[in-house]
Amino acid sequence: MEPKAKVIAFANQKGGVAKTTTTLNLAAAFAEKGSRVLCVDMDPQGNLTMSQGIDPDSLDLSMYDVLVHHVDIRQVVKKREIDIACASIDLAGAEIAMSTQIGRERSLQKAFQPILGEYDFICIDTPPSLGLLTINALTAADKVIVPVQCEYLSMRGLIQLQNTLEMIRENLNPEVQIEGILPTLVDSRTLHAKEAIEILEENFGDRVFASRIRKTIRFAEAPVKGMSVLKYDPDGVAAESYRQLAKEVLAHGQER
Ligand SMILES: Nc1ncnc2c1ncn2[C@@H]1O[C@H](COP(=O)(O)OP(=O)(O)O)[C@@H](O)[C@H]1O
Ligand SMILES: [Mg+2]
Repeated sequence: MEPKAKVIAFANQKGGVAKTTTTLNLAAAFAEKGSRVLCVDMDPQGNLTMSQGIDPDSLDLSMYDVLVHHVDIRQVVKKREIDIACASIDLAGAEIAMSTQIGRERSLQKAFQPILGEYDFICIDTPPSLGLLTINALTAADKVIVPVQCEYLSMRGLIQLQNTLEMIRENLNPEVQIEGILPTLVDSRTLHAKEAIEILEENFGDRVFASRIRKTIRFAEAPVKGMSVLKYDPDGVAAESYRQLAKEVLAHGQER
């Protein structure tokens, strides 16, 4: 049997927690290790698309067409550092356009079927909500990575996300699991950040990754150049932190 891509969704209904940054840089770290990687932009804001130097307004076809009109996903893939299935603002209308379709929660899962043999990892960036776009991502995923900004730790938000996942498991995708919770935007000089990580570990135990992503300006600079931090500053701590995370995820894959 042909090996199938491992599908990872990056989700947290809070904005600004580094979902997009983590999707791109973990994907770039997998690619650096020789994996074939597809990133999928499921956010109408198109930040992931832009972070690889692609103008969302220039696209003829985007994830909207894949989800709503069932266009072959290969038609919206552009090849950059990694392959990227692009999004633009029209994706904002996809939830309403899909709402009357039978199987609306499985549109993305279906779109992946023909390409699962072509990649080792498919990494899905999601919008800051738990609406139909995110539900499509969680239904298509094997694993979920939850980036959490340690500065404004929202336990209620995490419990909401867990409840949504439970609903997905009961109704749509029994196998989906949290791969790990990733502390991001960590300012290690502050007591607050340490406390936030302690609270996470008390509540989620070893599901909190050992990797931590520290706050650095490199993460704001790299997307402006259309690059991952691994390409923009290959020897920096920012790049190294995502290489560490890739190691952790690959190691989990072997033991689980
Ligand atoms: N570790 C980090 N250090 C500093 N800035 C970061 C870091 N990670 C992400 N950022 C910045 O924070 C902002 C939000 O990140 P983003 O990945 O877009 O979050 P989300 O997709 O969850 O909304 C962006 O401007 C990004 O460049
Ligand atoms: Mg984002």
